[in-house]
This record gives sequence, structure tokens and C-alpha cells, in this order.
Amino acid sequence: MTVPTSPWWRSAVIYQIYPRSFADATGNGVGDLPGITSRLDALAELGVDAIWLSPFYRSPQNDAGYDVADYCDVDPVFGTLADADDLLAAAQARGIRVVVDLVPNHSSDQHAWFQAALAAGPGSSERARYLFRDGRGADGSLAPNNWESVFGGPAWTRVTEPDGTPGQWYLHLFDATQPDFDWTNPEVREEFRRILRFWLDRGVDGFRVDVAHGLVKKAGLPDYTPPRDADSMGGGLDDVPYWGQPEVHEIYRDWHELVSSYPGDRALCAEAWLPTIEATALWVRPGEMQQAFNFHYLQTDWDAAELRAVIAESLRAYAAVGAPSTWVLSNHDVIRHATRLALTEPIPQGWGIGPNTLERPNPTLGLRRGRAATALMLALPGGAYLYQGEELGLTEVIDIPDADRQDPTWFRTAHERYGRDGCRVPLPWTADAPAYGFSETGASWLPQPPEWADLARATQREDPASTLSLYTRLLAERHRHELGIGELEWIDGLGEDVVAFRNGNVTVVANTGTTPVPLPAGEILVASEPGVVGVLAPDTTVWLLPT
Ligand code: GLC
Repeated sequence: MTVPTSPWWRSAVIYQIYPRSFADATGNGVGDLPGITSRLDALAELGVDAIWLSPFYRSPQNDAGYDVADYCDVDPVFGTLADADDLLAAAQARGIRVVVDLVPNHSSDQHAWFQAALAAGPGSSERARYLFRDGRGADGSLAPNNWESVFGGPAWTRVTEPDGTPGQWYLHLFDATQPDFDWTNPEVREEFRRILRFWLDRGVDGFRVDVAHGLVKKAGLPDYTPPRDADSMGGGLDDVPYWGQPEVHEIYRDWHELVSSYPGDRALCAEAWLPTIEATALWVRPGEMQQAFNFHYLQTDWDAAELRAVIAESLRAYAAVGAPSTWVLSNHDVIRHATRLALTEPIPQGWGIGPNTLERPNPTLGLRRGRAATALMLALPGGAYLYQGEELGLTEVIDIPDADRQDPTWFRTAHERYGRDGCRVPLPWTADAPAYGFSETGASWLPQPPEWADLARATQREDPASTLSLYTRLLAERHRHELGIGELEWIDGLGEDVVAFRNGNVTVVANTGTTPVPLPAGEILVASEPGVVGVLAPDTTVWLLPT
């Protein structure tokens, strides 16, 4: 199929905002919607096309808002519905589109439906909206199957029935406070259509769909044991009875119709961790979602041969269904790429890194590779997601004190896995302000490391060699040279440690090796490190124009 060049999401750069950690207008240490609205100019200046907001809905915040108690209201910690409307209007007035997060696999246990299910008892239509089952064993005291929660521990919790007796069990692939919906139930389907319409009517440009590969479970809920050291969301694993079941596509075909019935080009983006790129491409077939995060790219090492292979296979597999690839290197669930790319031993996705992790990656090397990797990604045709803070060169925060950690993973694994707090630390805005300008009072829900004073946005704006200046330049040139809608033509012969290609007018060369390589002729348009002349040092990417 030929790959069309519009609409917007085919080539957009979408910036992920993690609302708790972006900007705090109330001073309670947790970021909020008015905080985001007040800082939109910084994102317009950076040059992003859209923002994706992680959940800001009513929630007890047991999984930082991915445990939703009311899908059509804003949690007081983040503001009000009027604040959400203001944010939408303010972003769109700056030409920035707004994508919101939709969490359809599970609700919070505080959701009215789950509370009604507990009260109504076994066999009720209220229970049929979730996955309640009787336990195994003579007295039902054993969980219905052996599934494990993504965050560690069993994926089932037993309830006490309204009459006080030990009762049924409910499934939760995540925390015990996140019961899974039963997507074979038409009521669940109708409710999510209503939720989609609620936000579409308010004017959102799209949805990032949380755990999109988890909604449908294999009939009979057969036992399954993941391999030791598996990624927490199942990436790379085949035949898992709760991930990537084929029937899930029917739901997205339904949503595609609903979303396309609205004016404008609204989009759905799948968070789906699947065994192969080919399997991921099935999610963006015509009539399904518009985007699916390319997590295979995210998980590729800083290695030229591996990068060439994953890029080629992505372009092939997505083009075969007429879709662009959606590149991504960081998000709120993975070790920041400016740290991850310096690890020599991979850490499974979701496990995190902390003071007792054996390997402590070199932060200078990590940032250098992080900048080079971003320069490579932003030259590729397709859409791309950035995660807040990567434009400041933030690395993973490794030394968060145990007492401050909040990820449910940390608690559900009895402190064996650190989880994801290290990539969620609130952003530094100004060097000499309380909490580096994140909140006026200096409060911050996770402590910020002292070295972040030097990484404050206001400081980096003034420095042409800063990571922020690099990102701003990359986005401007990507736009000017229309790289997002371009086509990639490989350049061979520059050595096995080099990734090199042309995209339109621009020649891109990245050196993942340990020795400098000669550069082809050309005028340097952008370089991930200062001072590139004639040769390209290790861990550097350049964009060249013909002389
Ligand atoms: C997704 C989110 C993650 C959350 C999980 C459960 O993977 O990105 O942060 O914990 O789903 O909703």
C-alpha cells in the first residue's frame, strides 16, 4: 500500500504530559491542570504538534490515576472539568492538539460499578461487568487460576460477601484496587462508547488507549506462568491468555467508527506490548486504531545493526497495512532512555532501577546516547512521542529514598522491584526557585535531585548547547524538511557501527560504535553534540544538507 501523508497524526510529534509531575499551580506538591495551562507556551516554543495527558480523572491515585473512579470527571487533585476545558482551549489556540488517556481494561475499586458489584453479590448483573469467579478447592479458598499481577503478587483478590462470608474472587491484572472489566459484557461496551463521546464532545483530538492489548481474556481463563524476568506488560511474549487476544480488535473497529463520526481527524493510539512488530501493525489496519506505540523500537539497544533491523522491519510491517510507525523512546513506565541506553544488562520493563541495582549506568554516556538516539528518531518518517523531561536531558532518578517510593510495584513485590517512580520525578523549571519552579511552596510528591538545578528549563533556554536547544532545533528542522512525511533511503558503506539514511534532502548519520567514523560531505544542519567537523565521534548523530 502507498502510505498517505496526512492527516496530522501520521507525522505528529506528541509530547506526553504526566500531570502529577509537570507543574503544580496549587502548591500541594502534585502537578495539576492549571499548572499545565500556565506552561503551554514552553511547549509551543519547543515546537510539538500535540500533547497526550496521562489520566487526570477522579481516582484514589493508587496507580497514579490509572485507577479511575469516574471517567467523566476531573480529580480534585488535578482541578475541575472547567480546568480541563480551559486547558483544551488554550492548547488548541496555540495549534497544539490534545490527546487524553482512556483506561478501559479496569476501573478503580472505588468506581460506582465495582461498589455496586460488591453489594449485589454473586450471580448479579452488577458482578457481570467485572471478572468475578468462584475460587478453587472445596471451600473456594484458592484463586480461580494462577495468574500473576503485572505489579507482582496474585492477580485475584477474594471478597467478603454482603452477608459477611468469604466469597468470590475478582481478577485484577494490576493492583488489587484495579478490577478488570468483562469486555464480553455489552453494558461495558456501551459505557465506554459513552465515555468516548463525553470527551469527543468536549473537543479532544484523540485517545491514548491504556493496556489496549489486555481487554479480552482467553475463554476459560487457563493457567499461565510467564517466564522469569519477563517484561511486566508482556512485551515479546507469545500466547499469553490475557494479552493480545484476537477478539480485542473488534472493540477497536467499533471505536474507529465512533471516533470517525466526529469532525476533524481524531485518533486512537494503542498501548499494546506484543510479541512482534508484525503483530503490532495489526492494530493499525484500516478501520482500527490510527497509531500504536512502537515499543520494539523503544526496547532496541544502542546498536547500529539492531537499529537498522528494527527500523527496516517497522517501516515494512506498518507500510504493509498503510500505516505510519509511531516511534517512542521514553514514557512514564520505562527507565528514561538517557539512562537506559547506557545499561549493559537489560532490566525488564516495569522493574525499574534503584540504589541496590547491581549496575549503575554512566550518566554522561547515557545522556550522550540519549541525545543521539532522539536525533535519530526524530529524523524517521512517521509520528513520534516524547516524554516530559527528556527535552531537558533528565535521566532516571536512581536514589529515591525507599520511604518516598509510591509505585504499587514496589509494594506488591515486597521492595524487590523498584518500579517506575524514577522516571516520574517532577520537572525542574527554574534553577533558583523552590522545587525548581515546579511548585511555589517547594512541595514535590517525589524528591527532586540537587543536580537538576543545572537542568532547569529556564537555564537551558539560554544555552545553545543544551539538550533543550537541541530538541527545539530538531523539531524545527524536522518540520521544515517534512521528515515526518518523508521516505527513508538507506546509505550503506559507512561501517557496521553506523546507521545512515537519506530522508528527502536530509542525510542522517548516527555512530553507535566506539571509534570516530568519517562523515559524508554535507553541511551540518543539526548535531547531537557540539563541535562535529569531518568525523563523527562515538554516540553522536548528525543531520546533513547537501553542500
Ligand atoms: C499502563 C499505564 C501504566 C499503568 C497500567 C495500568 O501500562 O501506562 O502506568 O500502571 O497501564 O493502568
